[in-house]
Amino acid sequence: PKLQKFVDPLPRLDRALKPSGIHEGSPLYEIAMRAVRQRLHRDLPPTPLWAYAGQFPGPTLDVRTGQRIFVRWVNEIPDGDFLIPQAFDAHLHGTHHGEPPAKTVVHLHGAVVAPDSDGRPDAWFTSGFGQRGAEWTREIYEYPNQQDACLLWYHDHAIGQTRLNVYAGLAGAYLIRDDHEDALGLPGGDHEVLLMIQDRSFAADGSLTYPIAESAGSADRPGPWVPEFFGDTILVNGKVWPHLEVEPRKYRLRILNGSNARFYQLRLADGRSFLQIGTDQGLLPSPVEVRRLLLAPAERADVIVDFRGARGSIRLLNDAPTPYPNGEAPDRRTTANVMEFRVGRRLARPDTARIPDKLRAVAPLPEREAKVRYMAFSEYKNVKGEPTVVLLNGRKWDAPVTIQCKAGDTEVWHLINPTEDTHPIHLHLVRFQVLDRQKFDSDDYLKAWNAEIPGEGPDPISAEPYLRGSRIPPPPQERGWKDTVRVDPGEVIRIIARFDGVPGKYPWHCHVLEHEDNEMMLQFELIP
Ligand code: C2O
Ligand code: CU
Repeated sequence: PKLQKFVDPLPRLDRALKPSGIHEGSPLYEIAMRAVRQRLHRDLPPTPLWAYAGQFPGPTLDVRTGQRIFVRWVNEIPDGDFLIPQAFDAHLHGTHHGEPPAKTVVHLHGAVVAPDSDGRPDAWFTSGFGQRGAEWTREIYEYPNQQDACLLWYHDHAIGQTRLNVYAGLAGAYLIRDDHEDALGLPGGDHEVLLMIQDRSFAADGSLTYPIAESAGSADRPGPWVPEFFGDTILVNGKVWPHLEVEPRKYRLRILNGSNARFYQLRLADGRSFLQIGTDQGLLPSPVEVRRLLLAPAERADVIVDFRGARGSIRLLNDAPTPYPNGEAPDRRTTANVMEFRVGRRLARPDTARIPDKLRAVAPLPEREAKVRYMAFSEYKNVKGEPTVVLLNGRKWDAPVTIQCKAGDTEVWHLINPTEDTHPIHLHLVRFQVLDRQKFDSDDYLKAWNAEIPGEGPDPISAEPYLRGSRIPPPPQERGWKDTVRVDPGEVIRIIARFDGVPGKYPWHCHVLEHEDNEMMLQFELIP
């Protein structure tokens, strides 16, 4: 359906959910996943969705550093009520045991948590905890919130169907705040706005559509899995192309790309810049002025936009190609648009917010003595050139876990990308720093690595002999703490992290959800 842009007001996500009780002396929240219908555009019939607490996006949790909370995530989606059954692919990892498809599990992206509260893919559960995955251990998850102020988000992570569950609506925001951030005097209250950006496609009856592989049913592509989903409409906070009335003053926009596979390169139509103050895991050392804001799935940007001097409306536009970076440019009539800011004349109160030059120190992790690992991606195609599977280190999800990280150790990971797409790589449990990027010769590397048979290749090798040019340090807006990083094609990126926490297994994966669902996910084991 053709949908008129900017007709609906932006739903605000800043009303925080209240706890429903106390558990072990800390606030307890109870959040039920339900099948609901919600109007996502003025001219669309209500859309069937799966939603946390019955709302899409889910309710925002707003907590303080050091304040532990508990959440009882419950599934009230009737068994067998799968939202887009034709897209369910029983050939993907974890889906082939005849399990009921309405299985869910909740991961708090970017949180430092123990494995049993991490929402690991095989810890799924169905309605009333009736059926449970092999890794399921508990109903109530514990979030210690022992980390700096930042915007996290919670979303579904069920094995082999994360892409469909998140697409169905299972995502929400989670804010951690602290005294240090409060003392900075950043714009707050009505002037702090969460923006969760997602793309979707609709049928005329308002229901979501999701593509099926053309060659589904062939020997090397038996199921409907497609390598990426790109919708033809852009939603912010669950509304198609909304608008927001703003005052001519500074706003703090906390932007999250909650899309399955679409990257956004955001800019303001009048050429106004963003002052970026934070990234995935919180504040940058100092503000960085940017005209374009590139966000891969799961990445966040914390920015200040000053609407002073603006006349009328300013559109938030997107010019990132799909797939990123070598695909098609977005359509000027549709996906190149995100939302519209309508700048009023009146100021309710004088704008006294100042943006300090120093936000939060980010001490570089020491590279000396760090353990070095080589992690490489590989994509396999059928004779028609269609991707069939994407792997990390040539291994599959079900293979034994071979990456063991010692608690307290600092490690440098070389993420080596010889494929044609940018992959946003996310590590659970840890925050990391980007050291640098360097080009390399993908073909020579792949030949030398010899990981030709999916799942049976040898461990990745160093890209050292194939490197080209010099190591390029990250741009200033990437010099904060990250939990998801874009690795471009033909590039080796080095990240550094200190591994610590509760021993156990933690996933790391590509955050293009279609890749994650089709083997581009492994685990590392934290050992004492
Ligand atoms: Cu945002 Cu393992 O995921
Ligand atoms: Cu990927």
